[in-house]
Amino acid sequence: MSVVVTGATGQLGRLVVESLLERGYPAEDITATGRDTARIADLADRGVTVRRADFEDPESLREAFRGADTVLLVSGTELGRRVEQHGNAIQAARGVGVGHLVYTSAPRADETTLVLAPEHRATEELLAASGLTHTVLRNGWYNELSQQALEQARAHGAFAGSAGRGRTASAARRDLAEAAAVVLADPAPHAGAVHELSGDTAWTNEELARDLGELLGREVRYRDLSPEEHRTVLAGAGLDEDTVEFVVTLDRNVRDGELAATPGTLSKLIGRPTTPVVETLRGLL
Ligand SMILES: NC(=O)c1ccc[n+]([C@@H]2O[C@H](COP(=O)([O-])OP(=O)(O)OC[C@H]3O[C@@H](n4cnc5c(N)ncnc54)[C@H](OP(=O)(O)O)[C@@H]3O)[C@@H](O)[C@H]2O)c1
Repeated sequence: MSVVVTGATGQLGRLVVESLLERGYPAEDITATGRDTARIADLADRGVTVRRADFEDPESLREAFRGADTVLLVSGTELGRRVEQHGNAIQAARGVGVGHLVYTSAPRADETTLVLAPEHRATEELLAASGLTHTVLRNGWYNELSQQALEQARAHGAFAGSAGRGRTASAARRDLAEAAAVVLADPAPHAGAVHELSGDTAWTNEELARDLGELLGREVRYRDLSPEEHRTVLAGAGLDEDTVEFVVTLDRNVRDGELAATPGTLSKLIGRPTTPVVETLRGLL
């Protein structure tokens, strides 16, 4: 069964390819794609086919997907362009007769107020309308995104936000990549499924501060700000207006519990507990 992975030049996609190889999936049945293929030249050395595929270039997508039984569409990074880009990938997959498309979406994309969800929701709708056999992996928050809290804690003994006592059920990128590899290796049982994938444990920023304190061997405090105070701090740190609004909205989403669900589907898929946030941060130290 031949598998094509988009976004393999990025962090999640590469980990998916690595995970497929670790599981014994034949390298000759894997095609790794992205725009900047120089970053995955080492995968070619290991027998993986490497092809350039740009979501803005439908012909490159058709070429990359031709002959694939399964395609993993890793959501892109260009906010505001992604619905069209993902639509190009879905159309290309349909056009060349891909058997099964797996898409990395966002938690409860169909009903959440999460600031990032609308493009994922629209992509899921395109997928449903495409008639393609598909699986949606609604990936939760990455542990790695707490690296900034780690760095602030290390430098100042404190980090700040406006998420209140909201909880985040984050997981390591590697956990989510492994789940994708499990599905790609045997997609049929997952046809039509929407998997909500999140960490086993949902933590508050106060709990993260306590864990960071233990990790760093110093006192670490979480300073909870009002959204207005948070805006002022972020703008003072030099962030542009759109980014400030994005970060503050995201913290409101966390406060509202939009990233807190712990259905346990991810650990079930990968057959082990998910990686606690502090373990991922220990690895980043
Ligand atoms: N769950 C979360 O916490 C979370 C957090 C951040 C992002 N995400 C989403 O999850 C995705 C994967 O995360 P990641 O950490 O692996 O991100 P990443 O390291 O930034 O990788 C993004 C990948 O998307 C590819 N890409 C972007 N625009 C493209 C285009 N026009 N055509 C083809 N490929 C394109 C990039 O390819 P090139 O570099 O070769 O162009 C890269 O391989 C992200 O793209 C984003 O949609 C999720």
